[in-house]
Amino acid sequence: MNDINMTYEEALSHAPQEEPARQYFFIERCQDILENLKEVSGKEQLTFHIATFGCQMNSRDSEKLQGILEAIGFVEHDTEEADFVLYNTCTVRENANDRVYGRLGYLNSLKKKNPYMMIALCGCMMQEEEVVAKIKKSYRFVDIIFGTHNIFKLAELMYERLEEKKMVVDIWEGTDRIVEDLPTERKYSFKSGVNIMFGCNNFCSYCIVPYVRGRERSRSPKDILEEIKQLVNDGVVEIMLLGQNVNSYGKTLDTPVSFAELLTQIDQVEGLERIRFMTSHPKDLSDELIKAMKNSKKVCHHLHLPLQSGSSRILKVMNRKYTKEQYLELVEKIRTAIPDISLTTDIIVGFPGETEEDFNETLEVVRKVRFDSAFTFIYSKRTGTPAAKMEEQVSEEAIKNRFDRLLDEVKNISSEVCGREVHTVQKVLAEEVNDHEEGLLTGRLGNNTTVHFKGDSSLIGKIVDVYLDESRGFYYMGTLRP
Ligand code: SAH
Ligand code: SF4
Ligand code: F3S
Repeated sequence: MNDINMTYEEALSHAPQEEPARQYFFIERCQDILENLKEVSGKEQLTFHIATFGCQMNSRDSEKLQGILEAIGFVEHDTEEADFVLYNTCTVRENANDRVYGRLGYLNSLKKKNPYMMIALCGCMMQEEEVVAKIKKSYRFVDIIFGTHNIFKLAELMYERLEEKKMVVDIWEGTDRIVEDLPTERKYSFKSGVNIMFGCNNFCSYCIVPYVRGRERSRSPKDILEEIKQLVNDGVVEIMLLGQNVNSYGKTLDTPVSFAELLTQIDQVEGLERIRFMTSHPKDLSDELIKAMKNSKKVCHHLHLPLQSGSSRILKVMNRKYTKEQYLELVEKIRTAIPDISLTTDIIVGFPGETEEDFNETLEVVRKVRFDSAFTFIYSKRTGTPAAKMEEQVSEEAIKNRFDRLLDEVKNISSEVCGREVHTVQKVLAEEVNDHEEGLLTGRLGNNTTVHFKGDSSLIGKIVDVYLDESRGFYYMGTLRP
């Protein structure tokens, strides 16, 4: 089977139809070609570089893509001066797109110097027709374009590119399949994201994610648990369960399972120490989930609960399906059950039609809830979403003014709130060596706050006791306890 002279058509006729066997077949084919390329180019190794934009979904996808590239035989390189450069793109806001176009010219200049270089683009931006049309027209030097639904196919697409020697474009509009058991790499040895579901059905009126990530699909609890057990065997102590709206997990499975039930099952995995998840949509956050969090020793006391706006009127137009009052009640309920919960959020400023009164209601909610931290975004018009057609876009000046006021408020509050564990001993996952000060490690509390403390790099990946000596606004300085 390892015949380098096999034509593309022959390979296609030999390739297994079922996945993941088909991809392992193409990984082998690519391995052969790579060996050959090494000889021809006189290079000892061929390198790859992945640049990831956007959210944790993309980060996790990039780990899968990296796993495939390493299985093919590429070696990671930390700059774009590599033989295979892949951009995993995001399109949630316009500035994410601009950054990609900005970088492409630079990639072209690198390619002119390296005849073996391949450039690939994937991710959410590629699910937009206009983007692909623009790249096909003005960025002909790109070798491979694929989307969010077929990342598992990277080896097959690369094989096609290497054999056919022309731009390969493969974008799927949607999918109902989830391909399991492909190679994957992890950025950290001790923590990992785990997809529990893909896509989103919520169609918040400003958001492009449902259009580029497709309809909601949940992985089976069995596959999720197996992956987690495998990760734990491999040294992982903390997992982050990933989904655009984890609270609606499992509704579409043949035997429906709730997110709370899934958490309870994961909680029992021996050796696993911390469980995080994101994102929780306020509309679907059940009492059952609050109870499961409260009863678990492993689920971290941190909830990312995107507010988006504090005005019930704007929330309705945003199609968020909760009111300001319901959001506040939910926060109250969570805090009563889990008093030390840390709450973080996302807020959009300048949604079409947002008035000064609407904005003041957002400020009011921020002051009432006192979030540990908040990601604040300026509304970005996304073609194809209902909000893009709404009139009354807010003036740039008003947006800038509101954004600055919101940021001030958020920062002041979080600097007050974040120090609340000072002078206590907390469990900390030591995550990395601090690059600013020698001898310091950086770790995280269960509630996600950062702490710096003196320690040896052999502690990385371990959960240790740290006394929090001092709060410095958004982080602590601490001392390791024996
Ligand atoms: N599924 C998650 C959010 C994914 S996108 C959730 O529902 O909470 C991450 C954040 O980007 C969103 O919470 C929102 O605050 C922001 N966002 C999404 N679309 C946006 C847009 N068009 N303009 C500005 N911010 C946007
Ligand atoms: Fe976008 Fe709303 Fe889905 Fe989150 S829940 S991804 S904001 S549509
Ligand atoms: Fe961006 Fe796609 Fe995530 S649009 S925010 S990378 S789901």
